[in-house]
Amino acid sequence: MVARAADALVIFGASGDLCARKIFPALYHLTRRGRLQMPVIGVARAGWTREQFIAHVHASLKTFVKTTDAAVVERLAAVLQYVDGDYRKAETFEALRTALGAAQQPLYYLAIPPSMFPVVIDLLGSSGAAKTARVVVEKPFGRDLASARALNATLLQLFPESSIFRIDHYLGKEPVQNLLYFRFANAFLEPVWNRNYIASVQITMAEKIGVEGRGRFYEEAGAIRDVVQNHLLQVVAFLAMEPPVNSAGESMRDEKVKVLRAIRPLDAPHLIRGQYRGYRQEEGVAPESNVETYAALRLSIDSWRWNGVPFYLRAGKSLPVTATEVVVDLKAPPARVFGDFAAEPPNHLRFRLGPDVAIALGARAKTAGTSMTGHPVELFVSEQQREEMEAYERLIGDALAGDAALFARQDEVEAAWAIVDPILGTAGMRVHEYAPDSWGPRVADRMIEGACGWHDPGADAHGWSRFCALP
Ligand code: BG6
Repeated sequence: MVARAADALVIFGASGDLCARKIFPALYHLTRRGRLQMPVIGVARAGWTREQFIAHVHASLKTFVKTTDAAVVERLAAVLQYVDGDYRKAETFEALRTALGAAQQPLYYLAIPPSMFPVVIDLLGSSGAAKTARVVVEKPFGRDLASARALNATLLQLFPESSIFRIDHYLGKEPVQNLLYFRFANAFLEPVWNRNYIASVQITMAEKIGVEGRGRFYEEAGAIRDVVQNHLLQVVAFLAMEPPVNSAGESMRDEKVKVLRAIRPLDAPHLIRGQYRGYRQEEGVAPESNVETYAALRLSIDSWRWNGVPFYLRAGKSLPVTATEVVVDLKAPPARVFGDFAAEPPNHLRFRLGPDVAIALGARAKTAGTSMTGHPVELFVSEQQREEMEAYERLIGDALAGDAALFARQDEVEAAWAIVDPILGTAGMRVHEYAPDSWGPRVADRMIEGACGWHDPGADAHGWSRFCALP
């Protein structure tokens, strides 16, 4: 069945940071491509008029879009409307209904704190504004497994699963989709993509910035809730899932759920938490805060394909670069015919997921000369400067069209929470301090088995490094 496109977009939280940084720029680009020709209604409690809302959107575009075309900005402004009011009051929803006019299939975007979801959902229901509507919810979907289940139950009271679009913007990233495509559009990977040939998998999500004014949010979240439970586990699922039967969203999500359920729930010995020096002085952060700005963990997947292959994940703020990379290490050749590479990185596949995009294949090649010795080389299979389309533009466009393939399903979100749930109570567990601009606490180095440690992404796709010790 082809979904009907939305005929209005309503954004709750229109005065918030997410709108300014991500949603308005995405709307600008959708307008530029002629994909946004419906009323867009901002809802907030800012006390604004429509003109002030438009001025706010202009200001956001100026800050967060590199170059804007005045004609496109004008086209976007022409579809903008604004409803001011308290999310707890029925009048706000009456005003919204009036603003919606004849729209039959609005898309409600909840860019608001999760604690407000039930309030807004309730009033959308009682005001009759939810019939035939769809809803987009931003992460975090809950704080743990129990609250995620409760949130899903609240949403499902009013919307069927097919009308709920849970955004994890990593799913809208070009390189993340490329990962999936590369795995299943090629035949050569499949024979080696298993425990017989793969020694380990590493994923590093490094961010140079600290919490940047989001201290209050971070105190509630920490790295595990903020990026591991969602972005990184989605990447693990793409890397580890079985081939889907086709490219339909449901087939993909079925396979992702299966592999997420095969991941052993984490326990404290497989987790290192870190906090950058200076975090406790950030605005909104408690002076004695024990919240992690860094997490390194080791996952085990109890499946036929992956049994015994460690998946190492690492995410942190205030690290030396901003870059996300996956490195899949292959096992060493069964015999060392040329015995010269004991302390060299093994063959690998490297997926650079941001900020630039690359897939590289690491191997050894002979060094010219009389002796049979060699050196590591990397073959760049594909490389591109940046994503052509920002994740938010792609995802909002899909949600407006009613295509849920790149959104997280209820069972998927809950399966991901089930993996991290046992370690969420480890707030009392030690958090290791690390120097800003370092690769996190040194104790995490001991987590990696084998001669080579963590691979450190570089500032550009070619600049990665890793230290291998002689066994
Ligand atoms: C968000 C997190 O979901 O993802 C942020 O809340 C993080 O803390 C961001 O910085 C990273 O996304 P991207 O697209 O910049 O890699």
